[in-house]
Amino acid sequence: MRYRCESCGYSSPKWMGFCPGCGDPAPLVEAPAAPGRPGASRAARVTPLTEVGPDSARRLLTGIEEIDRVLGGGLVPGATVLLGGEPGVGKSTLLLQVAGVLAAAGSTVLMASAEESAAQVALRAGRLGLAYPGVLLAAERDVDAIIAAADRARPDLLVVDSVQTVAAAEVGGTPGGVAQVREAAARLVHFSKESGVPVVLVGHVTKDGSIAGPRLLEHAVDVVLYLEGDVERGLRVLRSLKNRFGATHQVGLFEMGDAGMRPVPDPSGWLVAGWKGDVPGSVVFPSVDGRRPLLVEVQALVSPHAVATPRRSVRGLEAARVHQVLAVLDRHARFRLGDRDVYVSVVGGLQVRDPGADLPVAIALVSSYLDRPLGPIAAWGEVGLTGEVRAVAYGDRRAGEAARLGVGVVVGPTGNGEDRIERALVRAGLPPAS
Ligand code: TYD
Ligand code: MG
Repeated sequence: MRYRCESCGYSSPKWMGFCPGCGDPAPLVEAPAAPGRPGASRAARVTPLTEVGPDSARRLLTGIEEIDRVLGGGLVPGATVLLGGEPGVGKSTLLLQVAGVLAAAGSTVLMASAEESAAQVALRAGRLGLAYPGVLLAAERDVDAIIAAADRARPDLLVVDSVQTVAAAEVGGTPGGVAQVREAAARLVHFSKESGVPVVLVGHVTKDGSIAGPRLLEHAVDVVLYLEGDVERGLRVLRSLKNRFGATHQVGLFEMGDAGMRPVPDPSGWLVAGWKGDVPGSVVFPSVDGRRPLLVEVQALVSPHAVATPRRSVRGLEAARVHQVLAVLDRHARFRLGDRDVYVSVVGGLQVRDPGADLPVAIALVSSYLDRPLGPIAAWGEVGLTGEVRAVAYGDRRAGEAARLGVGVVVGPTGNGEDRIERALVRAGLPPAS
């Protein structure tokens, strides 16, 4: 017999009147062993290394190229994939599309939804033109009931939407709480390993990360994917953060439309469509995301401020880096933006983590400050504290992607060379500060 804390899941062989794990003053409760767990009486199966074949032949392709690439070549039998993302970003839609494509090819997919009724899922599938009998729906909250249904149906894929809304019986705490999420996921991972049925768990994350979920499960699953992007509009980026069966840092791109998530084969063309470079404060940045070049538009607006403290608003970039660029512009290029309101954003709702964004941010800021348009130029480079501009990786790919979309003028350090922020601004066509 073990005893558990109902709020954090802390487990102890001894009963205690409070939880030493999280400090909860409520006493620990009896936690019977979960049914179906492997006992110590069973010996592990042992296989000589040379007799273990590759599993690549048994991979299940989802049929959606943007997903298969991120998965590193499809779903692996017995593997659990966690798909995280903010509510509304399109996780359920994307998985329903995967189910539809697989079912159209003759596979069966069990979609267990604790969030939506079967009628709601069916309505959406109908609208997406994906009503296939091979898509099996179960509106169910109890994780053991889901596992039992999957055990009977033996689908080619089990989807559980979402891991925060299913409940593991006999485990205390509310669904979505640490103990529940951890236990529900553990039972599903175990089912996947035993049966060979790949399992996809949907996990919601909120901006402040307050809901227990994806973060907690990253170590328990084989593959962690995140779907991110602007919920209102724009590109959705599917990323792999962990993949036991392939390379990480792969990205797949989608656009949410009337007919669900549409793959975007030419995201750069999509992102810079309509961009002319004839307004101040706009510059093209050929970013590299997971080795994939992606042209994005960096915009800046510098304006005299109206209130006592100047505003600083950064979207799609790391705020700390933008603040550093502002300080370097002040010190080394003598552009004093400290008393101005400053807004910087990446168009299209993308989150850019590429250090090469520093120079385009600097150029966009000065362009807005001086009210001078730049024309069609692309820029990249990492700006250091002493005003130097350093080369970043994949210079050739960046230049190639810019050229492919007709942006021929590039500003930034080439090769391993170094540049200075003052000189780079001049080469972008911006006059030095007086
Ligand atoms: P959803 O997949 O439910 O997001 P998640 O499961 O990540 O919470 O879908 C999110 C939004 O997408 C929802 O507000 C409705 C919208 N949507 C479309 O714009 N087009 C479509 O074809 C579908 C199915 C949904
Ligand atoms: Mg959903």
